[in-house]
Amino acid sequence: MAASKLTFNFLLLSFLASLLIPEISLCDHSRQPKRHVAMFLFGDSIFDAGNNNYINNISVFYRANYWPYGETFFHFPTGRFTNGRLIVDFIATKIGLPFVPPYLQPGINFTNGVNFASAGAGVFPLANPEVISLRMQLSNFKNVAISMEEQIGDKEAKKLRSQAVYATCVGANDYTYFVDNYPNATQLEQDEFVNNMVGNLTDFVKELYNLGARKFAILNVGPRGCQPAARQSEDLRGDECDEVSLEMIKKHNSAASKAIKELESKLSGFKYSIADFYTILLDMIKHPKDYGFKESRYSCCGHGMYNAAHCGIEPYTLCKNPREYLFFDGWHPTEPGYRILADLFWNGKPSIAAPYNFRQLFDLESTPIILSEEYEVPHYE
Ligand SMILES: *[C@@H]1O[C@H](CO)[C@@H](O)[C@H](O)[C@H]1NC(C)=O
Ligand SMILES: *[C@@H]1O[C@H](CO)[C@@H](O)[C@H](O)[C@H]1NC(C)=O
Ligand SMILES: *[C@@H]1O[C@H](CO)[C@@H](O)[C@H](O)[C@H]1NC(C)=O
Ligand SMILES: *[C@@H]1O[C@H](CO)[C@@H](O)[C@H](O)[C@H]1NC(C)=O
Repeated sequence: MAASKLTFNFLLLSFLASLLIPEISLCDHSRQPKRHVAMFLFGDSIFDAGNNNYINNISVFYRANYWPYGETFFHFPTGRFTNGRLIVDFIATKIGLPFVPPYLQPGINFTNGVNFASAGAGVFPLANPEVISLRMQLSNFKNVAISMEEQIGDKEAKKLRSQAVYATCVGANDYTYFVDNYPNATQLEQDEFVNNMVGNLTDFVKELYNLGARKFAILNVGPRGCQPAARQSEDLRGDECDEVSLEMIKKHNSAASKAIKELESKLSGFKYSIADFYTILLDMIKHPKDYGFKESRYSCCGHGMYNAAHCGIEPYTLCKNPREYLFFDGWHPTEPGYRILADLFWNGKPSIAAPYNFRQLFDLESTPIILSEEYEVPHYE
């Protein structure tokens, strides 16, 4: 690593440390947990590391397997919707794992976990029917659980599953679907949608628990209404954001936090960390310079008013220095943006990730589990 980059990272981290984190330690960044911990990943494009590359006949907009995605770190497009690594890649490195492989990639080994996330996915399949919905991701996990038992035996498979961390980032696509399709929804209809979202998300977490999951790392829903693609498609100027979706997402995040907390008292051995993706990303959008960025309104790659549409599809423009931008395309942070988010979720104080930060969650001993009866994944339509 070049000296100038080290200095910059050091300054940035020191700055963030003074601003947000009471007890950050730079040495922590190369530390590894006491034991092997696998990661199972669920959700949308924030986590997808290439699953959609393997879905036949899918629209080009759900894939990022073309230039200039991946240009900075991998130097080829992997299917990640950014120029380099994702939050989950940085977390994998922190715990000493290789990047967690996409479920659909041929020949993968589940020992370090599996990435089930699919760009465009929502809690409800309606959000984007072509991609792998959260429910389908759950049945794919069930398939992996079965092959684990075949390959390493029941006991080892249960141990691996109970010690693993289950990370989820989902919901933004559902709210995009809702605001696009129900522009005139009443308050009551909005609240009903939020309640169904939170109810179905909580059911998903419970079903994972019933399959042996114990430790959950959950990103709440980001501020989609302030992201360049939403502002561009709704023709918003100045500081305007799509307030309807922001209000719905705020309600969602607060109800989801409550529902997950309640699970803790009902489900024995259930442990979780909720990372406040919404608040941090919104703060980064509003105060880019505080995080080392010059630009948070315009994306690095795309076209249109905020350069926020269709990165990689002609006609588009690509910025010279993605390092200066918070967003790579209209919806997704650049690698430096993801790195800061990963560092904050990993080491942040309770206002950022609670009741544990991700580092503490990974370090928790998980209580041994007894699965008294074989749990069946419900059949979805
Ligand atoms: C591929 O998608 C197009 C457009 O959605 C559809 O008309 C066509 O039938 C699909 N082909 C296959 C093989 O599924
Ligand atoms: C998966 O990886 C682990 C650790 O590297 C190894 O011990 C195991 O044999 C691998 N399993 C398969 C099926 O390749
Ligand atoms: C929403 O309301 C506006 C203005 O009242 C109307 O023009 C529009 O057609 C409505 N949209 C839908 C999808 O009902
Ligand atoms: C899940 O969403 C559906 C609507 O799609 C709703 O009918 C159902 O009640 C929701 N489940 C929960 C537990 O909220």
